[in-house]
Amino acid sequence: MGKYSTIMITGGAGFIGSNFIRNIIDRDYEIINYDKLTYAGNLSNLKDIEGRKNYRFIKADICDPIMVKKAVNTYKPDVIINFAAETHVDRSIIGSTDFIVTNINGTRVLLDAAMEFQVKRFIQISTDEVYGDLSDLNIRKFTVNTPLKPSSPYSATKASADMLALSYRRTYDMPVIITRCSNNYGPYQFPEKLIPLVIYKALRNESIPVYGDGKHIRDWIYVDDHNEAVLQVMENGIDGHVYNIGANNEMNNIELIEYILGIMNRDESLMEFIADRRGHDRHYAVDIEEIKEAIGFSASMSFDRGIRQTIEWYMNNLQWMEQCMSGEYMAYYEKNYSLKDK
Ligand code: NAD
Ligand code: TYD
Repeated sequence: MGKYSTIMITGGAGFIGSNFIRNIIDRDYEIINYDKLTYAGNLSNLKDIEGRKNYRFIKADICDPIMVKKAVNTYKPDVIINFAAETHVDRSIIGSTDFIVTNINGTRVLLDAAMEFQVKRFIQISTDEVYGDLSDLNIRKFTVNTPLKPSSPYSATKASADMLALSYRRTYDMPVIITRCSNNYGPYQFPEKLIPLVIYKALRNESIPVYGDGKHIRDWIYVDDHNEAVLQVMENGIDGHVYNIGANNEMNNIELIEYILGIMNRDESLMEFIADRRGHDRHYAVDIEEIKEAIGFSASMSFDRGIRQTIEWYMNNLQWMEQCMSGEYMAYYEKNYSLKDK
């Protein structure tokens, strides 16, 4: 039995949140999933969990103070973990309004409710993207002391939320913790993000859009490893601390796409180089020794095993992918990729 029993998870119908719920459903927690169900939130991600006794779903917006307070007052969570966000960099470049509203104001609404009802721990799920572009700095990895210098409207709103959360720590002595993870991959990731998009396109033998020269480096972590770190931070982290989470698995986009195409037996000629993303960060990578020393966490999934498992999952869930790819997504896809010169 852990220290906490009732956990309110916001954004639990999205990629990382739904995997988090699946990861902890068999443990001794009461789980409240609070999600607005935007285009990225999908209750079919949690079909196998729906009827479980220790699970409840509330469809509502984190920006709605009345609904947030009602949920917190009703279920009295010990912990709030805020996964809810607008998360796609390309969409934030097309328009940043929803990012500002949800990522900043939504976090503020949650912090206020957590303060009012004396929630024992508030975990703000952030991203390594708040540090900006590693290639602009004279260091090999981001540490928790690296200054924030976000490049995209997405990362700027995540950095704002981090600062707000830390200000609530200092000003109101709130039990806030921040986690900043590198790029996740795994089942149930919305196929606007690189890895599921590559798998989808490869399955259909369609061209795969590679931005710029394709040499942009990310540190890829399997989603269950990220979630295990969040769980360990929840149980053993220290209020007011920031924890960077990564897997020491740096790869550039071409290497990554070639790896996937190799497993799927597809030709590398599927890669189509298109104009670069505006403001595109060339390199992210976090120092993984800090969290190892602080709470003993290190990622356990090898990239080879994780990516094979991930590809297999998408191949077995084609209907899920097709459902994501319909409607609103196609309009976005046309808009994003037509903005880039070929
Ligand atoms: P996602 O886009 O797949 O899911 C986001 C979820 O939040 C969806 O279920 C959506 O319906 C919900 N949501 C959005 N706006 C909301 C609102 N106003 N009220 C209530 N719910 C709302 O995102 P993800 O990839 O699962 O990311 C989860 C969190 O992890 C985000 O905070 C993101 O910044 C962070 N993160 C993601 C990655 C990554 O590689 N995906 C890496 C590091 C950090
Ligand atoms: P993404 O999955 O959007 O994550 P992030 O931008 O938050 O790191 O993109 C990962 C990398 O892949 C990033 O360098 C941008 C690049 N990319 C492409 O080259 N083509 C694409 O169609 C997409 C979506 C991303």
